[in-house]
Amino acid sequence: MLDALAALVKALLYAGLLSCAGAVFAEWTLRPSIDCARAAMQLLRRGALLTVVASCASALILMIRLGGELDEATLSAVFISSSGAATFMQLAGAALLLASANDPTAREIRLSNAALMTLSFAFNGHAFAVGLTDGLIAFVHASAAAWWIGSLWLLRVACIEQPLSNAAQVLSRFSLMATRFIGVLVFAGLVLIQALVKFDELPYLTAYEQLLAVKLGIVVLVLSVATYNRLRLTPQVAAGDARAAKSLRATINLELVLIGAIIAVTAILTTYTSPHE
Ligand code: HEM
Repeated sequence: MLDALAALVKALLYAGLLSCAGAVFAEWTLRPSIDCARAAMQLLRRGALLTVVASCASALILMIRLGGELDEATLSAVFISSSGAATFMQLAGAALLLASANDPTAREIRLSNAALMTLSFAFNGHAFAVGLTDGLIAFVHASAAAWWIGSLWLLRVACIEQPLSNAAQVLSRFSLMATRFIGVLVFAGLVLIQALVKFDELPYLTAYEQLLAVKLGIVVLVLSVATYNRLRLTPQVAAGDARAAKSLRATINLELVLIGAIIAVTAILTTYTSPHE
């Protein structure tokens, strides 16, 4: 029961953190219109609030899992540890982002605070248990995933609320960068697999590897939808086809749902199983 709650809270933490940081990364790279930038700040605020609640709940659950005592050993394990450092980065980053969300001149500050939030992945989790370098790969991996989520959200808003020409502009910038960011996401993911999975025991799959395979299955699905958008719908929207913009909205929703499923599987993977078993 406590494990299920821990996995649920972790999924909410991933969703809040990645969408909050992603809103900042997307605002930086896609240079959206004023209306879209406003939508990015709304996503930032919601994501930051979810991060604060989920990060505190996560620390509380860890304390209960360690016996629930408020003694020195438990408090040190929760707060004066790598996991405590990650919690501090999440809370500080989210609070600073909330404080700077209304300031149009604070873009650089927002970028560093968003990076502080995703940097928390370098100090927590299975990759960090292997070494700091692998922890930093997890940071790069999570940052690229955050960019994808934030950018899809802005693109969705542009397709719903903006004239077709504005949506086409955001879409063209997104298309230019998506190959690089999603390439980095997949490459960093492969490096993590190489660091965490023991290939000499294949084809026998541990519980960890089975869940990882489920994650990769959903990744293939979302990449297929993204490729369809890129090759089929993007040129049609660029040519001014309003029906294609409507279809793009639907496929972006599908991508976001699939990414939500990836987040849920990653939370279950990192809560219930370990590559080090
Ligand atoms: C939208 C796509 C993706 C999202 C949102 C996502 C999200 C995440 C997050 C948040 C983590 C950090 C878990 C933690 O340390 O607490 C993670 C770890 C990981 N991801 Fe991804 N990921 C995505 C795609 C991929 C891809 C394409 C691969 C492989 C090619 C991959 C492989 C991994 C591996 C191996 C880990 C380490 C898991 C562990 O700590 O045991 N991910 N992912």
